[in-house]
Amino acid sequence: MAAHILIVDDNELNLKLATKVLERDGYQISTALNGFQALALATDSPPDLAILDVMMPDMDGYELCARMRENPSLKSIPVIILTALSSVDDRLKAFDAGADDFLSKPFAPAELQARVKVLLRHLEARAEKTEIHKAHKVAVYSLRGGVGVSTLATNLAAGMTQLWGKESVLVDMALVNGQSALMLDLPIRNTWGDLAPIPTEEMDTELLEQVMLRHSSGTRVLAAPRSAINADLITEEKAVRVIELLEARYPYLIFDLPHDFSPTTLAALDAADKILMMLSPEMASVRSAGMALSVFEELGYPEEKIELVLNWNFQSQGLPRGEIETALKRKLPIVIPYVADAIVSAITIGKPPILNAPETALGALLEDLVYYWSEPEQKKKKPENPTEAWQRVAERARKRAKAAS
Ligand SMILES: Nc1ncnc2c1ncn2[C@@H]1O[C@H](COP(=O)(O)OP(=O)(O)O)[C@@H](O)[C@H]1O
Ligand SMILES: [Mg+2]
Repeated sequence: MAAHILIVDDNELNLKLATKVLERDGYQISTALNGFQALALATDSPPDLAILDVMMPDMDGYELCARMRENPSLKSIPVIILTALSSVDDRLKAFDAGADDFLSKPFAPAELQARVKVLLRHLEARAEKTEIHKAHKVAVYSLRGGVGVSTLATNLAAGMTQLWGKESVLVDMALVNGQSALMLDLPIRNTWGDLAPIPTEEMDTELLEQVMLRHSSGTRVLAAPRSAINADLITEEKAVRVIELLEARYPYLIFDLPHDFSPTTLAALDAADKILMMLSPEMASVRSAGMALSVFEELGYPEEKIELVLNWNFQSQGLPRGEIETALKRKLPIVIPYVADAIVSAITIGKPPILNAPETALGALLEDLVYYWSEPEQKKKKPENPTEAWQRVAERARKRAKAAS
C-alpha cells in the first residue's frame, strides 16, 4: 500500500507544489492549512510521515511537532520540518521539537523526494524488525467447559519451549477459576491478581517477569488469581497491555481461555494469530462450537484463523466425525484420541505428557501438533541447534513421508 504523507502549510500554493512532487512518487497525500486541522486529521487517520512548515499563524511547525510528540498515537510518526530560516539555531530548534529531518526553503523537489524516501525506508526496516520479534500467539478455546482446553494449552506451551529451546508463555485467561499453574504443578506465588492494583501505564516487562511463574521446562506461566473477586479488577485494558508487553519479549504466547466471550477473553481472541477451537463428539459441544464459529464470523476473523480440534474426552461412543463436519460445515482434520489414564494422571501429578512421556503415542501426537501450530516462518528452516524434540518431530515426518511413497 502507498505510504500516506500529511503536508501542513498555511500557504496553499506551497501545499500544491509539494503535493504534486510527492504524488509523482506514488504517495497518498493529505494536506492541512494549520496546526489544529493537522492534529485533527492525523488523529483521525495517522499518516506514515508528516511534513510541517515552520511559519504558520496560531501554531507554528515547532509547536505542532512538539504536540505530536506528546500524543501516544502520533509520537512515532517521522516529521520533516520545512523552513525559510536555515541558521544552526533554527535547525536545533527543529530537532528539539522532535523533528527527524529538516529542509530549508527553497529546496529542489528531488531533495524533498529523497528525504521522504529515506525516512520511510527507516520506518519500514523498523516495522520488519518488530514483526519478526513479535510473539506467535495461539489461543485455545471452547465455549463449553470440560473439553480439554487447559490440557491442550498447557501441553502446547511446554511443548513450544521444548521444541524451539526458547521460553514460551502460558497465559491463563480463565481469570475466575484458571488451573494452568496446577496442571504444571507450580506453587502459586504470584498471579494476575498482583497486577490488579497496578495502573496500566505503570506496567512493564520487568514487573511481568516478577509476577510470572517459572516451570522447570523454562515455560513461564501467568497464573489466574487465587480469588475470583480479584478477577473483576483485571480489565480489558490491562489484558491488552499485558499481551503487548509479553509479545514483544517472548517467541510464543499460549492463551488458556475460559468458556465465555468476556472482554478479556475477546482481547486474547483478537490478539491471537490462531484460535484452536476444541470440541468433543457430543451434541452440546458441537452446538456450542457452532455458536462460537458464528460469533467469530461476526467479529470478522478470517476463516484460516480458526482451527477445529476434536478431542475425544470420553470413552463411550460419540457422534461420528463426518456428522459433526456436516453440521459445522467445516473439516475436522485434527483428532485427539481418548487417553484417560495418561491425561488424568498427568493432571494429578502436574506433568504434561508432552514433557513426561514424549515416547508414547500421545506424547508424539502432541509434539507433532506443537510443531504443526508453530510460527510458519520458523518452520521453514532447520534450527541451527535443533532440540531433541525437533529431531523427533523431523524423524517422524521422514518416516511418514517414506511410508506414503
Ligand atoms: N483426550 C482426552 N482423553 C481423556 N480425558 C481427557 C481428554 N482431554 C481432556 N480430558 C479430561 O477432561 C477434563 C477437562 O479437561 P480440561 O483441560 O480441564 O478442560 P477445559 O479447560 O476445557 O475445561 C480433564 O479431567 C481431562 O483429564
Ligand atoms: Mg480450563
